[in-house]
Amino acid sequence: MSENHELIPRSVLIPIEGVLLADHIAKNYDAVSAFCPDPSDLLIATYPKAGTTWTLEIVDLLLHNGDLEICRRAPIPVRTPFLENFARVGIPSGLDLLATMDPPRVIKTHLQFHLIPKGFWENKCKVIYVARNAKDNLVSYFHFNHMNLTHPEPGPWEGYIQKFMRGQVPWGSWYEHVKGYWKERENKNLLFLFYEDMNENPRREIERIMRYLDLSLSDDVISRIVEQTSFKNMTTNPTVNYSFIPEPVFDHSRSTFMRKGIVGDWKNHFTPEQAGAFDEDYEKKMKEVNIPFRTQL
Ligand SMILES: *[C@@H]1O[C@H](CO)[C@@H](O)[C@H](O)[C@H]1NC(C)=O
Ligand SMILES: *[C@@H]1O[C@H](CO)[C@@H](O)[C@H](O)[C@H]1NC(C)=O
Ligand SMILES: *[C@@H]1O[C@H](CO)[C@@H](O)[C@H](O)[C@H]1NC(C)=O
Repeated sequence: MSENHELIPRSVLIPIEGVLLADHIAKNYDAVSAFCPDPSDLLIATYPKAGTTWTLEIVDLLLHNGDLEICRRAPIPVRTPFLENFARVGIPSGLDLLATMDPPRVIKTHLQFHLIPKGFWENKCKVIYVARNAKDNLVSYFHFNHMNLTHPEPGPWEGYIQKFMRGQVPWGSWYEHVKGYWKERENKNLLFLFYEDMNENPRREIERIMRYLDLSLSDDVISRIVEQTSFKNMTTNPTVNYSFIPEPVFDHSRSTFMRKGIVGDWKNHFTPEQAGAFDEDYEKKMKEVNIPFRTQL
């Protein structure tokens, strides 16, 4: 690690209602919790690295009839404010940004279900949740925690698996996150999507989102959105590939924001022993629900 990296304050994690959050997010949580959305606002919730930016870009394109120019009007965190986030290089905090925008807005969050501001449920806002299988999500988060220099240092791989299993990572336990939204999916106005389904058949999932948003776009427009949100196009789109967040926040030399975008990369990281131990623990934590995750296609 270069000297340079030691100067960057990696955040400390603080529990809020049982969920570890980066200190600057935790100390601002009361204001976030009090945020009152408009009924027309749309919330996109995910555990970090589960297809968030991908879904945000798809939704922005759907809402603008696939217009590429409009959807390049600003970097994705400016188009779609990150609810609980603090200000970063040139991008205001989520709440400050929301205060400048008129509804309907597309809002991103990584908060667990019970931490979502109550106003979203009271106003019956539409909510899209995207879930990614635990092992691939862990691998992606491991790499991301290396490149997002404001996150606590992930440490070595083996220890990181333990931290992830214990929920000792920013935004807390993957297991509680996914279960929280899954259990409420029928009680709320919530579309529950799987990253693996989006990978397998993007068009089908994009059309599913379109219907949820009560939109009806032509086949041509849908085809364009499918192409435009392919992994390859996303990595070279400067408004979504996060090259606009430079050091000292993101170190793109350690890992790129869009790394592989595939299903099953966990096999290149977990040893058979690690996978076995992980799966055993997973069964215990997830036994009360039966969420049809796929770890390969
Ligand atoms: C990088 O980490 C900080 C601190 O947790 C977080 O607020 C920020 O949103 C992260 N960046 C992204 C793109 O998630
Ligand atoms: C990227 O998007 C453009 C414009 O929609 C399209 O022509 C091109 O085929 C896409 N590339 C890939 C690799 O999907
Ligand atoms: C993001 O896209 C721009 C424009 O295509 C490209 O120059 C840059 O290298 C990309 N950044 C990353 C980190 O992939």
